[in-house]
Amino acid sequence: MIRPLDTQIALITGAADGIGAAIAARFAEAGADLVLLDVQAEANAALAQTLAARHGVRTLPLTADVSSSDAVNAAVEEAFRAFDRVDILVNNAAVAISGDPASMPDADWDRVISTNLSSAFRLIRAVLPGMKERQAGCILNIASTQAHRSWENWTAYAAAKGGLLAMTTQLAGQLGPFNIRVNAISPGAIDTPMNERRVAAEGEQLREEWARMHALGRTGTPREVADAALFLCSPSASFITGHDLKVEGGLCCLPRV
Ligand SMILES: NC(=O)c1ccc[n+]([C@@H]2O[C@H](COP(=O)([O-])OP(=O)(O)OC[C@H]3O[C@@H](n4cnc5c(N)ncnc54)[C@H](O)[C@@H]3O)[C@@H](O)[C@H]2O)c1
Repeated sequence: MIRPLDTQIALITGAADGIGAAIAARFAEAGADLVLLDVQAEANAALAQTLAARHGVRTLPLTADVSSSDAVNAAVEEAFRAFDRVDILVNNAAVAISGDPASMPDADWDRVISTNLSSAFRLIRAVLPGMKERQAGCILNIASTQAHRSWENWTAYAAAKGGLLAMTTQLAGQLGPFNIRVNAISPGAIDTPMNERRVAAEGEQLREEWARMHALGRTGTPREVADAALFLCSPSASFITGHDLKVEGGLCCLPRV
């Protein structure tokens, strides 16, 4: 049986958990060999083993912090040694740190921008020469509805996500002639460990508030984001570039509550 990502090598950041793990599983089902990059070494290695056994694909778990250029460069070099190339890059790793812009410390602002935005630049810089040489490639940036709507005290996170969307547009224009597609996904509230941590910190009422924010009256699943990621990174989306696909249950259709 031919699968849509057979022969493709996909590198996914933040792959060990949440949306990244769901994208890894969806891509493995679709036949892609995987480079799984995360700071959580154990969970990442376990996922790599499970997906290889379940779907008969090759997997390479790499422990690296996307906020370090040295770590990213070393990881991508290891990926090249194992697989020769990266065909698909998914920039998914991020941290959720809020902060009142009237008092947010530099360290928090810098960590959000470095982990959530500059990380994508670091990864793209590392894989781009090979993609240009082969005249083929696909880059997917996981942004957020935070780039489209206003919430209290998420300025840094939203700025990073807005930066990813601007980068997506810029690079789609610049890299189109090299047959490299660059797209983004803006998820709504998705049931992941990131949001579980927010519920633990801010209270159970958040679940109800999040559900009400979406026209569909519920939060999303990582698998629903992964399905969109597979579409954008598959040959089915061969004429789609510079696009931000909102996977947000109609969140952006509703007025702010
Ligand atoms: N969950 C949501 O509601 C939601 C909504 C919109 C956008 N997003 C975006 O989706 C993406 C995934 O979010 P999630 O909810 O699955 O998060 P998560 O916290 O559940 O998982 C993030 C993964 O990234 C890894 N990671 C964190 N910092 C890293 C670093 N410096 N280097 C390498 N790996 C690192 C973590 O170890 C973890 O495995 C993020 O870009 C997030 O901003 C999430």
